[in-house]
Amino acid sequence: MIIHKKKDSPPQKTLEVIGIAAVTVNGYIARHSREKILWSKDRPLFKKQTENFPVIMGSNTHKTLSDGLPGREMIVVNRTDDPADILRRIDQKRCFVIGGGKTYSKFSSYLTHLYLTIHPRVFKRGIRLFTKLEKEVSISFIRLVPVVAEEGIFQFQFKVE
Ligand SMILES: NC(=O)c1ccc[n+]([C@@H]2O[C@H](COP(=O)([O-])OP(=O)(O)OC[C@H]3O[C@@H](n4cnc5c(N)ncnc54)[C@H](OP(=O)(O)O)[C@@H]3O)[C@@H](O)[C@H]2O)c1
Repeated sequence: MIIHKKKDSPPQKTLEVIGIAAVTVNGYIARHSREKILWSKDRPLFKKQTENFPVIMGSNTHKTLSDGLPGREMIVVNRTDDPADILRRIDQKRCFVIGGGKTYSKFSSYLTHLYLTIHPRVFKRGIRLFTKLEKEVSISFIRLVPVVAEEGIFQFQFKVE
């Protein structure tokens, strides 16, 4: 549910803003900006974790989702959108920033958590988790969630300091 709040009020302090991504071992989230992510093995976990919460994505990522994301309010951001503005309109305890690289970067200073599922793949080139960062993001480990344990695929959950 979105409610419209006073424009210059900050995002609510208790809002969890969780960046969630499938990444290769060398830090890529896609080979190029139009790639549909078929190699990710964490779709069921992603669905379970994001269900009933707003999901924020960039316009490139939106174009790669043919079926949308049922059960979740989708917030598609463009280059002129202000991340603080988007977040202050969210009246839930949690939202997810689901990519892509430009959008993780745009919201980087608002992230409270990072959920990264490392996949045993190495891309030659592509889009990094953060395409452009203004400053380093300091994180601490929370827990490891098995995704496909026998293939060495786990979700690493971090808290942003
Ligand atoms: N592995 C994963 O977990 C995962 C997750 C999500 C997405 N992806 C993949 O990531 C890829 C898309 O990532 P992406 O980084 O290309 O796109 P994106 O973050 O999905 O969308 C691009 C965003 O950047 C803005 N933008 C475009 N050009 C800009 C510029 N020059 N300056 C400032 N903002 C600009 C766009 O605004 P406008 O609308 O105004 O152009 C849009 O908001 C896709 O292949 C997708 O499948 C992977």
